[in-house]
Formats: sequence, C-alpha cells, structure tokens
Amino acid sequence: MTWSPLLPFLPVLLLLLLQVPAAACTSPLDTLPEGAAPCKAGDLCPKVPLQKSNSPPVNVSLYYEALCPGCRYFLVRELFPTWLMVLEILNVTLVPYGNAKEQNVSGKWEFTCQHGEEECKFNKIEACLLDQLEKNAAFLTIVCIEEMDEMENNLKPCLQLYAPKVSSDTIMECALGDRGMQLLHMNAQLTDALQPPHEYVPWVVVNGKPLEDMSQLLSIVCELYQGEKPEVCPLMARSRRNVCLK
Ligand SMILES: *[C@@H]1O[C@H](CO)[C@@H](O)[C@H](O)[C@H]1NC(C)=O
Ligand SMILES: *[C@@H]1O[C@H](CO)[C@@H](O)[C@H](O)[C@H]1NC(C)=O
Ligand SMILES: *[C@@H]1O[C@H](CO)[C@@H](O)[C@H](O)[C@H]1NC(C)=O
Repeated sequence: MTWSPLLPFLPVLLLLLLQVPAAACTSPLDTLPEGAAPCKAGDLCPKVPLQKSNSPPVNVSLYYEALCPGCRYFLVRELFPTWLMVLEILNVTLVPYGNAKEQNVSGKWEFTCQHGEEECKFNKIEACLLDQLEKNAAFLTIVCIEEMDEMENNLKPCLQLYAPKVSSDTIMECALGDRGMQLLHMNAQLTDALQPPHEYVPWVVVNGKPLEDMSQLLSIVCELYQGEKPEVCPLMARSRRNVCLK
C-alpha cells in the first residue's frame, strides 16, 4: 500500500518525531507527570511551561480504525501537530475499532473489520500499545506506525524510539491472544456507546461533543480551554478571524 498524501510532510514529521526521544534520553517519558512535555528544549520541541494548571484539560477522543486513510491523515496531520503544540492542555484518548463489527462465537469475540483481517490485527496491536505503554509513549508509537507504510515492520523501530523497554514480541503476543481480543471488545463497547453514534471515522469527540470541522481542532481546543491559553493560541484565534463575516 502506498501512502502518498503524507509524503510531502514526512521530513518535517520525522524531525519532530526524532526530536522528542532525543530529549527523552535525559528525561525519560515514563517519569514525567501526565500531560507533561516529553521534550525539554530545541527549536522543534513543543514549548511547554511545566507549571501545574488548575484548569482541566480539554478531552479529545479519536474513534478510528487502523487502516482507514482518513483516520491516518487526521491522526498524523491534525491530532499529532495539535498535541505537539498544546499537549499541556489536552487529554487525548485513542479508541481503535471504528466501523468494525463483533460477534460472540461460542464465548469468544470475533471481529470483522472494514479493511479486512489485517486491520483487525492492527486495531488490536494499537489497543495493546495503549494498554501496556505509558500514555504519551503509546500515542507517539501509534503515530509513528500509522505514519509509515509497512506498519508491522515499523512496530519494532517505533517501539525502540518511544518505549525501548517494551519488545514488539510482547505487543504481538497481546494482540494475537486473549488480551488483544478483550481490549478490542472494550473498544467496541466504547464505540457502540457513543452518543450521538458515530457516522463515519475518524470520529472525533471534544469535551463530549462530535467535532464537525476536523481542520479546526487546534482553535477549538484553544477556545474550550478555560485556563491561561498556551502561547500558540492567540495566533490561531487571529488567523481564524481572517474570514468575512456577514
Ligand atoms: C482523560 O480521559 C480519560 C479517558 O477518556 C479519563 O478517564 C480521564 O479522567 C481524563 N483525564 C482528565 C484529567 O480529564
Ligand atoms: C457468548 O456466548 C456464550 C455461549 O456461546 C455465552 O455463554 C456467553 O454468555 C456470551 N457472552 C456474551 C457477553 O454475550
Ligand atoms: C474529561 O473527561 C473526564 C472523564 O470523563 C471528566 O471527568 C472531565 O470532566 C472531562 N473534562 C472536561 C473539561 O469536560
């Protein structure tokens, strides 16, 4: 499978992806508080004041399936850059399952995925990453594999970057076993419980409400956040006013 829509941006994304673990060497991801920057300095690092804020973060949940091109595009080109810019005010939840279906076959859950068996496997791999890795490391690892062709071959190098202590064998064992089945079943329940139900994927819910304009994620997150806005926010608000109101 080729993945042309992302290619023009790959160099920039790769730089961003590589920058984060570089800083993480001196400050391991898993010792940071939830939501803190895994990156300390450098031009490409997200600028994050490490002070504690009293305002609750904005909840952003992505309901998606691993091989849907629109989902990959949203994750890599919208959610990931937004996360890099304002991770200190975000609470991101990934729910891999999407338009899959499940069936109880003599006590075991069997899944049918829109993009075939391969997609069910990757949904489980990503559910296992979310289950077994620290939150930021899981997010970065999933972005890393979704960004590339050859997703399965990239599991190992992506894990080495963001969760070097976790082996790809452990993740595959989870994905192909009962744990992966249970985790995907839990995601099925979360997806089926959506109110209103999802109409398509990627389906993005921000503070409980479906996001209609996927390209406006950053400015909506900035708008909804009640605390002191990150520096990048006023810029966004200004650029948003560059429209002609009636
Ligand atoms: C972040 O989202 C998760 C899952 O949606 C939720 O359980 C958790 O309470 C949220 N954290 C905050 C600080 O809102
Ligand atoms: C799944 O099916 C088995 C029997 O085929 C039944 O015992 C079990 O209760 C079912 N589980 C659910 C959650 O429906
Ligand atoms: C985020 O989700 C958590 C868990 O559902 C909830 O407790 C919290 O109030 C939500 N935050 C906002 C800002 O809506």
